[in-house]
Amino acid sequence: MKSDEFLGKDLVLESKDIQAGSVEWKSPSNIAIVKYWGKYGRQLPRNPSISGTLTAAHTITKLSWQARQQRSDTTGVDLEFLFDGKPAPAFKARIASFLEQLKPQFPFLSQLSLQVDSSNSFPHSSGIASSASALSALSLCLCSLEDRLFGTLSDDDEFERKASYISRLGSGSAARSIFGYWSIWGKSGEWPQSSDTFAVPLKSHVHDMFMNMKDAILIVSKKEKSVSSSAGHQLMDENPYASARYHQAQNRIISLLHILSRGDWEEFARLAESEALGLHGLMMCSSPSYILMEPDTIKLIHMIRSWREDEGLPVCFTLDAGPNLHVLYPQKHAKKIEERIAADCTPYCQDGQIIFDELGPGPVEL
Ligand code: PMV
Repeated sequence: MKSDEFLGKDLVLESKDIQAGSVEWKSPSNIAIVKYWGKYGRQLPRNPSISGTLTAAHTITKLSWQARQQRSDTTGVDLEFLFDGKPAPAFKARIASFLEQLKPQFPFLSQLSLQVDSSNSFPHSSGIASSASALSALSLCLCSLEDRLFGTLSDDDEFERKASYISRLGSGSAARSIFGYWSIWGKSGEWPQSSDTFAVPLKSHVHDMFMNMKDAILIVSKKEKSVSSSAGHQLMDENPYASARYHQAQNRIISLLHILSRGDWEEFARLAESEALGLHGLMMCSSPSYILMEPDTIKLIHMIRSWREDEGLPVCFTLDAGPNLHVLYPQKHAKKIEERIAADCTPYCQDGQIIFDELGPGPVEL
């Protein structure tokens, strides 16, 4: 690795050498089993997390560039931003400030006029966190742009590490979306290559049963969350249970790594559900306290547990920082479980919306 911070002070061009062009990436969302909740410094995690990268829930981003008429280091990046083909001022402001922060890594951004066109496969405001897919897609585009202009990221591992590092600066969980199937972000003694600054893939470590795991996302509510993830992370600073939680997460990383390699579904279900409810428990004992689950979230949790405990179906749930349930099950049992989900869960989902997703190979350049 060239540098810990992927700094790029030499990445500046003569204006006459800048050729206009574009790159495009499709990048999926991910679902964490051991959750990242609590951060410090520049998006550094208080504990390591492990997630699976999804397929159907993804963002497609195209980044086009041309030489900027006048180079300027003081007036911010020159950006046009379209979401679903239309201007989106709130997103544009967030992306402009993200790009501005990235000048130490990509100093050439001041020399360009940029256009970013982004769209999600899942309906906007479906309550699915889109920051992981959106920020990873954009970060991959930026790394491809660097490589097109300077040829500095031709090594695939270096490319992915930088893309993960840059994604993390935009949204912590986005660091994990760079890799297909399972990845770990945050330092764990159990996984020597792991790092707080970028994610790494778990690759051949994982048993087949978990490689193609299914995830049916039950959209209980599409409402905007009452407390954002960044506010939630911040509340962990004063949470009286924080240090116990970080300790627990470290131990759970060790357990989950073993579970994933053994293919132990029962232990997986126990750990995943306890993590999900623990995450929401932390929210309930923050100050101020808050609840993101809805009454129908709880009804569905009981339903899924009874499928497992009373009927022996290999199924469990997890939750992000929101009311929507992710129902997890092995591919082998998909037919039966999906029929059951469609019949019994649909009435509890807003507009009957369910996204049938699964783990997959991760981002692709289009
Ligand atoms: O990446 P952020 O800041 O949106 O935080 C994501 C936090 C959780 O989704 C709740 C957990 C995780 O590890 O993805």
